[in-house]
Amino acid sequence: MIRLQSVTQVFNPGTVNENTALRNVTMKVREGDFITVIGSNGAGKSTLLNLISGTYPPTVGSVHVNDVDVTRHPEYKRAAYIGRIFQNPLLGTAGNMTLEDNMMITYRKGFKGLRISLNHRMRDFFRTRLKDLDMGLENRLKDNVGLLSGGQRQALTLLMMVLSEPELILLDEHTAALDPKNAQIVLDLTTRFVSEYRLTAMMITHNMHHAIQYGNRLLMMDNGEIILDVDGDEKRALTVDKLVKKFHEIRHRDFESDEVLLTDPNE
Ligand SMILES: Nc1ncnc2c1ncn2[C@@H]1O[C@H](COP(=O)(O)OP(=O)(O)O)[C@@H](O)[C@H]1O
Ligand SMILES: [Mg+2]
Repeated sequence: MIRLQSVTQVFNPGTVNENTALRNVTMKVREGDFITVIGSNGAGKSTLLNLISGTYPPTVGSVHVNDVDVTRHPEYKRAAYIGRIFQNPLLGTAGNMTLEDNMMITYRKGFKGLRISLNHRMRDFFRTRLKDLDMGLENRLKDNVGLLSGGQRQALTLLMMVLSEPELILLDEHTAALDPKNAQIVLDLTTRFVSEYRLTAMMITHNMHHAIQYGNRLLMMDNGEIILDVDGDEKRALTVDKLVKKFHEIRHRDFESDEVLLTDPNE
C-alpha cells in the first residue's frame, strides 16, 4: 500500500545545522498493517510520518501509495486518504466551533464533494457516533470543542478521522499528552476503530509496553534508520527486555532513552 524507496531526509543541507533525519530508508506498509513505531528522541519517527503524509518531499528517494508515485504530491492532496493525529489535542479539532460543526466538516470530507447539510438526521447520526465513545459527548453537540478535556478531544479527533474514511492513519504519540487514564481510553478506542474499520495504521509511541502490546508489527528506529522490523509470532513474543537486548545486538551499544525505558506499562 505504501512504499518508501531509499528515502533520505536532510534538514538544512550545506549549513552548520545540517541534520540527516532519515538515512536511506526502504520500507513497505501492507494493507491492514497496524504498525507501532518506537525509538529514542530524534530517531526520525515523526520525519518518517511526515514523508508519508507529504509534509515535505524527501531529499532523496520516492514514496508510492498503491503503486502511484506521490513523492511530489502535496500534503493537502494526500489528506484525502491519510488521517493524522498529533500529540497536541488542540490540533485535530477547531476549539472555537461546536462539536456538530467540527463533525460536519470532516463528514463532508468523507463524502468528497457530495452536498449534505446539518439536519435532524445528521445530528441523530452524530449523537449515535458520540454515544459510542462512552464519554457523555452525545449531549454536547452544541458545545464548543474548546470546552472538552484533552482526552475527550483526542477521542473526538479519532472519531472524526474515522468518519472521513481514510485508508491510512498516522498517529504521532497521540496519547502522550494525556493522563494515564485518558491515554488508555484513547488507546483502546484506537485499537477498536482500527479493527472495526479495517484501517491501516502507524502509531508512534514512546511507551515500549504499548509498542509491544498493540498492532501486528513493530518498527524500532535509531539515528534515522529502521533497525528492527518484526511482525507475526516474533512480534507477539517480544518483551521489553528482549527489545532492549535486540537493540544492543544490532547497535553494539545500550539503548539510551529514559523516556522510553522508564515508562510504566499503564502510562
Ligand atoms: N523541520 C525540521 N528542521 C530541522 N531539523 C529537523 C526538522 N524536523 C526534525 N528535525 C531533526 O531531525 C531529527 C529527527 O527528528 P524527528 O523525526 O522529529 O524525531 P523523533 O520523532 O523520532 O523524535 C532530529 O534531530 C530533529 O531535530
Ligand atoms: Mg516525534
